Amino acid sequence: LVHDIRTLQPNMVGQMVAFRARLHNLRKLSAHLMFIELRQQTATIQGILHEHGSVSQHFLYWAEHLHVETIVRVKGVVQEPRAKQGEILGVSIHNIEIHIHEMHVEGAPDEPLPFTVHEAEVSRAEAEQDGDSRHRVSDRARQSNRIIDLRTTTSQAIFRVQSAICHAFRNNLTNLGFIEIHTPKLWGAASESGASVFKVDYFGRPAFLAQSPQLGKQMAIASDLRRVFEIGPVFRAENSNTHRHLTEFTGLDLEMAIDEHYHEVLRTLDSTFKAIFNHVYKNYGPEIEDVKRQFPHEDLVWLEETPIIPFAEAIRMLNDSGHLDEHGNKLPENEDLGTRDEIALGRVIKERLKTDYYVLDKFPASARPFYTMPDPNDPTVTNAFDIFLRGQEILSGGQRVHDAPMLVERMEAMKIDPKTMEEYMTGFEWGAPPHGGGGIGLERILMLLLQLGDIRHATLFARDPRSLPY
Ligand code: ATP
Ligand code: AMO
Repeated sequence: LVHDIRTLQPNMVGQMVAFRARLHNLRKLSAHLMFIELRQQTATIQGILHEHGSVSQHFLYWAEHLHVETIVRVKGVVQEPRAKQGEILGVSIHNIEIHIHEMHVEGAPDEPLPFTVHEAEVSRAEAEQDGDSRHRVSDRARQSNRIIDLRTTTSQAIFRVQSAICHAFRNNLTNLGFIEIHTPKLWGAASESGASVFKVDYFGRPAFLAQSPQLGKQMAIASDLRRVFEIGPVFRAENSNTHRHLTEFTGLDLEMAIDEHYHEVLRTLDSTFKAIFNHVYKNYGPEIEDVKRQFPHEDLVWLEETPIIPFAEAIRMLNDSGHLDEHGNKLPENEDLGTRDEIALGRVIKERLKTDYYVLDKFPASARPFYTMPDPNDPTVTNAFDIFLRGQEILSGGQRVHDAPMLVERMEAMKIDPKTMEEYMTGFEWGAPPHGGGGIGLERILMLLLQLGDIRHATLFARDPRSLPY
């Protein structure tokens, strides 16, 4: 049995091989001849059923009625291609084909699928070129039949890149002396905003699903773990039906003790992002090309020296560019940016600084959670930043308040009862070092890197306010 059809070589012509694959596409040429495209993940090879060759007419009739996407085990002889190849996707093995002698069904759809992977592979550009002769599968159909859509070359490539992002994140931080931790996902309190927390029943008392690993990763610092990271689920009860919000996403988080300045955290995050970009562009070129067939886009542009722009300066840049908010006004320097303004700022920065990747530092205090360290020289701003990719936020981070009385003061100012966070507070009462960190949304960085347009394409099985399907 050949496990991987990509190992089949022209020097194997004449050999009998057997392998498992899906029926990707069937084309009957005559009563005696049929072409079957066989697929293993993103690789396809052509199989031939020929009545006078090795199989009966009865067999051909049976094969013709199999549903596309059926899993078959085939046995056949490797031969040189005699006919023009059919459709080409990810890796199409052109230089040989399989003359099929036997075929057994191992798993079959019980009815024709809502669409075939073969149809879903047709890009918008190709569909237009063909005068729409073939049906282009809609995003809605893809999302509601996600398992089929995940079998496409595009999805297979997207999730390889997702895995590569996690790999580079983990690798870079491990090399920098960080350890991987796993913080609880059940808490007695909210960490970000009380409005966006999922409440669950915990043996008769209320509990909350973690809105981020914030509390746990800071407690790990108070426990002297010094440099930690986590890749884990984050839950947000945000009723936001946008292209970039999920109710459950994956957080790539880190937290570290600071020696001198909170920009140590920024430098660590910057090196991690660069490690991610370099790993993806160096080792995932073919996957990126596959994604571009469905989602045409330009490769990411970033600079050796990442621009760190103070928030107020960014607002001035945006105002100077002539940009106005939704009500036709200039933007204030002490309020968070809306999505529309962020995207406009991204364009201004791309034009002036020639980069898709940059940092906005010194966020206004009003826009940040209770745990954020105010700037000691100007308490209206904070030692906190966001990192952007193509004009959209991929990370929030900054220095944290590590002094217990100051933390209580910040909580009270934000109407949070410190008693609801006793376990967390203890860490600071018993002494914690200066520290900071940040959190990346995995699906956000993937969506923006590959310009997927909608975060659902960057998520295996999306959870948003409207869908909890299973
Ligand atoms: P944060 O770090 O502040 O949590 P975020 O990326 O999670 O950032 P939100 O703060 O929840 O995003 O919202 C950011 C932007 O998303 C807002 O400026 C708003 O414009 C947009 N947004 C949020 N909810 C909606 C919605 N229901 N419809 C359209 N846009 C929305
Ligand atoms: P924040 O709330 O900004 O910060 O979240 C961090 C990052 O997570 C992503 N993100 C989301 N992705 C998908 N769907 C959502 N609803 C969603 N909300 C946020 C974004 C965002 O930049 N505790 C802080 C991080 C820290 O300071 O360490 C936090 O959670 O990419």
